[in-house]
Amino acid sequence: MNNPYLPQVAKIIDVKDEAPGERPIKTFKVVLENGNSLNHRPGQCAIIGILGIGESMISIASSPTRKDCLEFSVMRLGTVTSALHECEPGDTISLRGPYGNGFPLDDWKGKNIVTIGGGIGQAPLRPIVQSILDNRSDFGDLTVIYGARSSHDLCFKDELLALEKDGPASVHLSIDAEEPGWNKFVGFVPNNLLEIKPSPENCIAITCGPVVMIKYVIKNLLELGFTDAQIFTTMENRMKCGIGKCGRCNVGHLYICKDGPVFSYDTLKDLPEF
Ligand SMILES: Cc1cc2nc3c(=O)[nH]c(=O)nc-3n(C[C@H](O)[C@H](O)[C@H](O)COP(=O)(O)OP(=O)(O)OC[C@H]3O[C@@H](n4cnc5c(N)ncnc54)[C@H](O)[C@@H]3O)c2cc1C
Ligand code: FES
Repeated sequence: MNNPYLPQVAKIIDVKDEAPGERPIKTFKVVLENGNSLNHRPGQCAIIGILGIGESMISIASSPTRKDCLEFSVMRLGTVTSALHECEPGDTISLRGPYGNGFPLDDWKGKNIVTIGGGIGQAPLRPIVQSILDNRSDFGDLTVIYGARSSHDLCFKDELLALEKDGPASVHLSIDAEEPGWNKFVGFVPNNLLEIKPSPENCIAITCGPVVMIKYVIKNLLELGFTDAQIFTTMENRMKCGIGKCGRCNVGHLYICKDGPVFSYDTLKDLPEF
C-alpha cells in the first residue's frame, strides 16, 4: 500500500494543450515509475513536485476506473505550475497522495447527478463524470453544466462535445460573453443552471469553480428546491502541508486539506464565507 506522504517518482507520458486562453491550462498524463496506482477516489488530490522548484496541490482529473494513467489539468499561475507547463513527455516529477476525502459516489448510486463547473473547476468534477460513464447502470440521469470565460478557456471540450452529441449524458456548455460561431448559452454558469432547471427529485448536485460562482450556483440550486444535503462542493483554498498541521487552509473550524476538500452545503452553510 502507498504511503501518501512519501513522494513517488512519476513520469509524464503525454502533455495536451487543454485550454490555450489567457491563463493556459495543460493536461498531463502521468504514470508512477514503480507501476503502482495511487488508489484514489474521485475528488481526491495529489501534491505534484518539481525538484528544485517546489510543490503544488492539484486535483486528480481522471477517474480511478481509467487505470492506464493519472491525469492532472493545470492552469499556469506561478512558480510550480509554470515550471510544470515547461515539462514534456519523458520528464519526471514527484507525486504524493492521494489527499482529501473525495466524493461519496457509493452513497449516490441510484440517484440523478448534476455537475456544475466553471473554468479549471471542471478538473475535479471530471472523475465523477468518468466514473458514472464507466458504471452507467449504477446511476440515474447525468447532467453536465460547464462554462468558462471564453471558448478558449473551456477544458475537456472535445470529450464534452462528444458526450453532448452521443450521450449518455446531457451536456450544457456556456461562455461568459458572445463570440463569433458560438451557438450555445452565453452568460454566467449560475444563469445557465437556472435556464436548464434540473429537478431536485432524487438528485445530487456537485459544483466547483471560482468562489463567487459557487456561491451563486448554491443560491440558485436552493431556489430550484435542492436541499442543503443534496448540494456538494469541493474547495481549492491555498494549502501547504496537506495534512492538517500548518493552518494555511482553514475556513472557520474546518481544514480543507483534512476535513475536505469535498463538503456538503449542510456542513458549509454556517461558515461566515458562505
Ligand atoms: C485541493 C486543491 C486542488 C487544486 N486543484 C487544482 C487543479 O486541478 N488544477 C490547477 O491548475 N490548480 C489546482 N489547485 C490550485 C493550485 O494548487 C495552485 O494554483 C498552485 O499551487 C499555484 O502554484 P504556483 O507555484 O504555480 O503559484 P505560486 O507561485 O505559489 O503563486 C502564484 C499566484 O497564485 C496564487 N495562488 C497560489 N495558490 C492558489 C490557490 N490555491 N488559489 C488561488 N490562488 C492561488 C498566489 O497567491 C500567487 O498570486 C488546487 C488547489 C487545491 C488546494
Ligand atoms: S494545508 Fe496545512 S493545515 Fe491544511
